[in-house]
Amino acid sequence: MELKCCILVIFVFLVTSTRSQDCPSACTCTDGQKTMICRGLTSLPEAVDDHFTEFIFDNCNLQGEFPKMPVSYSHAHTLQIIHSNVESIADGAFEDMRELVMLSLRGNKIQVINSAKLFGLSSLLTIDLQGNQLTVIEDELFRHNPILNKVIFSDNPFTKINDRAFAQPENTDNPGPGSQIQYIELENCNLNTIPTAALCINSVLPNLVSLDLSHNDFSHLEEDLFEHTAEIEQLELDSCKIQKITKGTLAGLTKLKSLRLSNNILSAIDEESFADFFTSLNYIHLDYNKLTVVPYGLFNWAVVKVLNISNNPWECSCSNGWIQEYNVTPNDTNYNITCGSPEMYKGKNALQVMKYEIEPCAAPGSGPDPMIALYIAIPIIIILSIVTIFIIVKICILKKKDSHGRSAQYSLVYKPTTEKV
Ligand SMILES: *[C@@H]1O[C@H](CO)[C@@H](O)[C@H](O)[C@H]1NC(C)=O
Ligand SMILES: *[C@@H]1O[C@H](CO)[C@@H](O)[C@H](O)[C@H]1NC(C)=O
Ligand SMILES: *[C@@H]1O[C@H](CO)[C@@H](O)[C@H](O)[C@H]1NC(C)=O
Repeated sequence: MELKCCILVIFVFLVTSTRSQDCPSACTCTDGQKTMICRGLTSLPEAVDDHFTEFIFDNCNLQGEFPKMPVSYSHAHTLQIIHSNVESIADGAFEDMRELVMLSLRGNKIQVINSAKLFGLSSLLTIDLQGNQLTVIEDELFRHNPILNKVIFSDNPFTKINDRAFAQPENTDNPGPGSQIQYIELENCNLNTIPTAALCINSVLPNLVSLDLSHNDFSHLEEDLFEHTAEIEQLELDSCKIQKITKGTLAGLTKLKSLRLSNNILSAIDEESFADFFTSLNYIHLDYNKLTVVPYGLFNWAVVKVLNISNNPWECSCSNGWIQEYNVTPNDTNYNITCGSPEMYKGKNALQVMKYEIEPCAAPGSGPDPMIALYIAIPIIIILSIVTIFIIVKICILKKKDSHGRSAQYSLVYKPTTEKV
C-alpha cells in the first residue's frame, strides 16, 4: 500500500514536472526540449525552463524598445528575435546572457546599435543584424564581445562605418589579442567606396578570412587597397560596378582562395592581377561581365577548381585559345559561354567554335614560356648584334685600307661577299 502510494506520488510528480517543462502556448519546442520557437507573440515569455538553450522568436510583434531579457534566459546559447518589428534595444538588454554564442536580430527596424546594447555578451561568436535600418557603425562597437567571430551587417543603409568600427580597445600596457573577427558580411550596404580604414588594416582585423562586399556601388577599386589584409581567403565583390582589375587592385591578398566578381561590368583583367595569390586561387567567378579576352597566364591552371566564365562576350580567337581546353566548369546547362566577336561567330557556343571552327590554335602554354624564350633570345640577339657590328666595322676599315691601296689580300677575303650585296 505504501509502495503503491509512493509510485503514485512519483507518477504525479513526473506528470506535473513534465507539464511545467511544456512549451508556452503559441510556441513549439523541439530537439528534446532544447529549442523553443515562437511566432506571433507580443512579448517574450517571462520565465522559461533551464533546459532551453535555443530561442527563436519569429514574426512577433515587439514594437518599440526591446527591454532587458529576463534572467531565466541566461542559459541560452542561441537567441533569434527576427522579423519582429523591434525598433530599438535597451542598453544592457542582454547583460545576463554570458553564455550566448549566437544573437540574431535580423529583419527588424533597428536604427541604432552601440556597444552598450551588446554589453555582457562575452561568449558571443556570431551576430546577425542583417536587414535593419542601421546607418552608422561606431568605433569599437564590439568592445564587450572579445571573441566575436562572425558579423553579418548585410542589407542596412549605412552612411558611415567608423575607422575603428571593428577594432578592440587598445591598452598600451597590455596589448590584447585584437579583434577575433574572421567573417564580415556587408552585402547591399549602400557603400560606394570600400571603408578601407575599417576593413583593410591588419592591426584592426588581423584574423579576417572572409569579406563579403557584394551588391554595393563601387565602380573603382583603389590600387593597393588590400595590401594590409593578408589573411583574407575569400573575397566577394559580386554585383558591384567594377570595370577593371589592374595589377595593384588585388595585390597583397597572398592567401586568397576564392574570388567572386560576378555581375560587374569588368572588361579587362591585367595578366599579373592575380600574381600575389597565383598558387592559392581555387575558385573564380567572373560570370556576367563584359570580358572579351582573358590572358591564359592569369590563372594557375594546376590549382583552379572552379572558373565560371558564363555570360561574357568572349572573343572567339586564339587570344582566348585556353577556352578550348576549358574543362574546369562543372556540367551545368545554365552555362552560357558564347562568342561575342568576331561577327561570324557571334552568339555561337564558344567551346564548340574554339574546338571545331577556328584553325587549331597553338595549345595554350605548350610552347616555351615567353619569359624563358626572352631570356634565351636576348643573349643571342646581343651576340648577333656584336658580330654584325664587328663585321661592318671590319669591312669599313678594310674598304678604307683598300681604297688607300694597302692590305689587298685581306680585302679579298671579305670583298666578294660585300660587293655582291
Ligand atoms: C556560373 O554562372 C552562371 C551564370 O551566372 C550560374 O548560372 C551558374 O550557377 C554558375 N555556376 C557555378 C558553379 O557557380
Ligand atoms: C549568353 O551570354 C551572351 C554574352 O554575354 C549574351 O549576349 C546572351 O544573351 C546570353 N544568353 C543567354 C541565354 O543568357
Ligand atoms: C560532364 O559531361 C560529360 C559529357 O557530357 C560526362 O562525360 C561527364 O561525366 C560529366 N561530368 C560530370 C561531373 O557530370
